[in-house]
Amino acid sequence: MGLLDRLFPSSAPSRTAAPGSVMPAPSSEDVSEGKGLAAFFTEDHSACDRLWAEVEGADEGPDAVAAFHRFDAALRRHLGWEEDVIFPAFEDASGHRGFGPTVVMRGEHMQMRSVLDAMAQAAGGGDHQGVLDHGDTLLMLIQQHNAKEEGMLYPMAEGVLQGAWSGLRSRLRE
Ligand SMILES: [Fe+2]
Ligand SMILES: [Fe+2]
Repeated sequence: MGLLDRLFPSSAPSRTAAPGSVMPAPSSEDVSEGKGLAAFFTEDHSACDRLWAEVEGADEGPDAVAAFHRFDAALRRHLGWEEDVIFPAFEDASGHRGFGPTVVMRGEHMQMRSVLDAMAQAAGGGDHQGVLDHGDTLLMLIQQHNAKEEGMLYPMAEGVLQGAWSGLRSRLRE
């Protein structure tokens, strides 16, 4: 068994397929770069939403603090992916540098980070209710922000960055 098979046993081609049987061919999307830009980032919005639901559902104490840190890390990672990878590429490809949608989105990210900072402070002080109260503000910001990205920016970015997405996707790591 090769190293790859040991590391990723489930992704290894089946060795037990009946002779003559044909493995289903992966779609061209799977073969190239998987999900497109808009689907990838929209799904990451949903992933952050689910992590927030865990914060809301956690009992006060260490579980709630741990849930908050998972949410905080995921949201900051998402904002960083956009600011460091996607927005600059979009600005280069579209010529919208210093104006246009990414300027607005960067400003909203700053607002979100300042609320996250307040939440982190509350979490650090064991103030779960404070985390939830700031969370109401953050959720409002996020909903408006994500609607703009999903409704406008991501489709535009997917259009102008079609050829570049595979390379950009590979830069979206932890
Ligand atoms: Fe964003
Ligand atoms: Fe986003």
